[in-house]
Amino acid sequence: MKITPASRDDVGKLLAFRQEAAAWLTRLGSDQWQRPYPADRLLATIEAGSVFMVMDGDVTAATITLTPDVEEGLWTDKELSEPSTFVTKLTVARTHAGQNLGGRLLDWAGDRAYRTGAQWLRLDAWTTNEALQRYYLRQGFHHVRTVREGGAVNGGPRVSGWLAQRPTALADYDFDITFE
Ligand SMILES: CC(C)(COP(=O)(O)OP(=O)(O)OC[C@H]1O[C@@H](n2cnc3c(N)ncnc32)[C@H](O)[C@@H]1OP(=O)(O)O)[C@@H](O)C(=O)NCCC(=O)NCCS
Repeated sequence: MKITPASRDDVGKLLAFRQEAAAWLTRLGSDQWQRPYPADRLLATIEAGSVFMVMDGDVTAATITLTPDVEEGLWTDKELSEPSTFVTKLTVARTHAGQNLGGRLLDWAGDRAYRTGAQWLRLDAWTTNEALQRYYLRQGFHHVRTVREGGAVNGGPRVSGWLAQRPTALADYDFDITFE
């Protein structure tokens, strides 16, 4: 498998990939990711070089987005003063589930973050999805707090406010990295 930075041409593929994940989440009984992701926002993060795709031959096996910045209102100024990399939109295709591909990608992300001087790998997970939160705890993340207010719709409930972090570290990972 190879990790490559996404290009503009991947927007459609990534949106379809997210929809597939949303359909799976519905079957699990979660309301996570039911609103379509805005294509213009996705394009902007692709153009910033933040979106990566894991390809298994011609098949998209996973995606991860790594950014130095994050949505406002989640982390405190003190926390934001610590160099961090934020993980968003981590998704593994159901065809590739059960192999800890997500875990290996998180190790890759932590390694990459470490090399760029970040101290923390941080994320905000779906506030109501305890199974997903347990997944991140199993991956060595520590729950920092849950931010429940200040969502995008009129400052209402924050859908993705379960904050977690783990220290960055060098890692062994078995991807053929084509980036850089
Ligand atoms: C989270 C994810 C990337 C992990 O990938 P992975 O390391 O390859 O692990 P798996 O997909 O095999 O999932 C591991 C377990 O977590 C559970 N899980 C993962 N995401 C979940 C979610 N969003 N809601 C509920 N359970 C979830 C799986 O059902 C599985 O449970 P099991 O061990 O009882 O079978 C992948 O499951 C995924 O794409 N989930 C949907 C999208 C998502 O929620 N991404 C996180 C955004 S913050």
